[in-house]
Amino acid sequence: MNTQDRYRQLLDELREHNHRYHVLGSPTIDDNEYDLLYRELVEIEEAHPDLVDMASLTRRIGAAPDDAFAPVQHRERMFSLDNAMSLDELAAWYERSTSSLERAPNGFSCELKIDGLAVSLTYIDGRLAQGATRGDGSIGENITSNVRTIKSIPLTLRGDVPDLVEVRGEIYLPVSEFEALNQRQAEEGEKPYINPRNTAAGSVRQKDPSATADRNLAVWIYQLGAVEGGPLLGTHTAQMEWLGDLGFRINPANATVATYDEVVAYIEDATTHRHDRDYETDGIVIKLDAIGDQQQVGFTARSPRWAIAFKLPPEERTTLLRSIEINVGRTGAVTPYAVMEPVFVGGVTVTNATLHNEGEVHRKDVRPGDTVVVRRAGDVIPEVVGPVLERRPPGLAPWAMPAVCPFCGNPIVLPEGQAKAKCTGGYTCKSRLREYLFHFGSRGAMDIEGLGYRTVDTLVDLGLIDDPADIYDLEVADLRRMEGWGEISARNLVAAIERSKTRPLGKLIFGLGIDHVGGTVASQIAAHFRTLPAALDADEDAITAINGVGPEIAGSLIAWASDPENRDLVDRLAAHGVSMKDPGNGRDVEPKTLAGVSIVITGTLDGFSRDEAKAAVVDHGGKVVGSVSSRTDVVVAGQNAGSKRAKAESLGVPVVDEDAFSLMLVEGFERGVGA
Ligand code: IVH
Repeated sequence: MNTQDRYRQLLDELREHNHRYHVLGSPTIDDNEYDLLYRELVEIEEAHPDLVDMASLTRRIGAAPDDAFAPVQHRERMFSLDNAMSLDELAAWYERSTSSLERAPNGFSCELKIDGLAVSLTYIDGRLAQGATRGDGSIGENITSNVRTIKSIPLTLRGDVPDLVEVRGEIYLPVSEFEALNQRQAEEGEKPYINPRNTAAGSVRQKDPSATADRNLAVWIYQLGAVEGGPLLGTHTAQMEWLGDLGFRINPANATVATYDEVVAYIEDATTHRHDRDYETDGIVIKLDAIGDQQQVGFTARSPRWAIAFKLPPEERTTLLRSIEINVGRTGAVTPYAVMEPVFVGGVTVTNATLHNEGEVHRKDVRPGDTVVVRRAGDVIPEVVGPVLERRPPGLAPWAMPAVCPFCGNPIVLPEGQAKAKCTGGYTCKSRLREYLFHFGSRGAMDIEGLGYRTVDTLVDLGLIDDPADIYDLEVADLRRMEGWGEISARNLVAAIERSKTRPLGKLIFGLGIDHVGGTVASQIAAHFRTLPAALDADEDAITAINGVGPEIAGSLIAWASDPENRDLVDRLAAHGVSMKDPGNGRDVEPKTLAGVSIVITGTLDGFSRDEAKAAVVDHGGKVVGSVSSRTDVVVAGQNAGSKRAKAESLGVPVVDEDAFSLMLVEGFERGVGA
């Protein structure tokens, strides 16, 4: 077989396996076999670029013309649906919509209403030509590059393909993917996403398709739009079967029924099994199945009369609020949370739910002993909605934040202007220490595998660790003192601790648990200052020179750095060999010609971008500050330098040009001599 034939054969085979896996959910080969075929395809494509089919599986990212988010006119308007909020409203819809039919409708299609975002997909000659959002129903936005990354959206259709077909469906983020994403967010110290739907919508609006691809979105197709050169089909069900044959992902939970009573039974069943699925549903869609019936009953201005969405309410349950407890986090922030009689709501059993802060507890007026309403809507994070006042026992006292911390006995205070109370015990507070140490070893920080909460607790109880630097003193013999710890697990933990010494600087800074310094900000600080001492010596101007870093973060970093205990901790970490440097571009320049020199850079330089100039200063041991003061050693002024140059001149701070700056990097700078 020649290469071209083998290439076509591989493409066909891989498309078939892709379809079985992502569309039908019933693969016939395992991942290894798939990978082998895929690799062979990639090898042929690399060796013979002329053979590459632009609808190849390897072209999910980067092959569509890039007119992302440009307006596109829908061939047929994308209507939305009217809602029925109760069975009475559903019955009223049934009466209204069928009154113009001479006989009972010819069947109903019952479908789950997927809580995601609507998409229109157009295929020309069997190839995906365009993906668009719904927009206002007439005009949507082009999201072709992004939808191409969704593996359950076929790039090519199967079988006897029409000249043109346009289908509609719902893009969604599987609940399992959403939960994994939030797990990663938490590990990296980032805020959790609110719910799968918003996250899916945000994902298809990414400028970079590979960011969309990372999210593992999926699709269910539920409607046929424009067709040219396809068969004439008499029912919605037949249309969906045809679309399934073309390779589209059609929800197997759809059902075609004959009578209204069966519609109601479908709704009951779907409600019961609402949370058995890996996607969120916010209702059930009922459609008249016969296209002839649909044409007779027609449309209103905004929605079809032949379909209705039976809305499911966000799930709520009541349960007993046993108590309100507090947790002291790694920064000392005190968070009250509800401890409840376990209750099954929205597909999970809930016992605890955060109450955020004392103000929130009072706003909601929930008191220990209350019966409370717990909701888990589209949101995966359960929420205490409020008390059922009719069921409040007489004399129930409101909750108050304890005046002293139950973990350390130190006062709890509410800092001026803040919502969150703080424990004043520092790291003598056991709760805070435990969270801090756990955080230090977590994946988003120093990534010390094996340093979970239980291990941290035991090590603290045994008096073996008191702060992060102590972790680096641990030896196999120490760890073996813990119950159930053998030689192998002890060695593994020691090895993980050793490996953590070379973590990137941003991870270390994040691990230090500085207020307001999350994972992203920590990495920015590392990239900007390049060494931990440089970051800790920086003043507010220098810190706020980082894009997106404001005075609150700067103040917090400066306060942390000015605490001698923290400085001592950093020194001890350094003495243990924990890396204090950002590897940057791999340049670690010697000699440090600019050691201790404080430099302001202003205007445009020819030979350096602003970031390169800053990096060059830091590489040579100098410090870049944001604004000119009498403590500035020298100002480097490029073209169009403005007020900073003037200020330097008025303060008598030397100003040098780009050439002198280049020379300075090599020869150094002498105070008082100028350049
Ligand atoms: S049919 C003309 N079926 O709900 C009827 N819509 O407000 C077109 N949706 O915009 C919609 N699951 O985004 C239909 N099985 C389903 C659906 C569904 C979710 C969404 C769709 C639509 C909105 C209606």
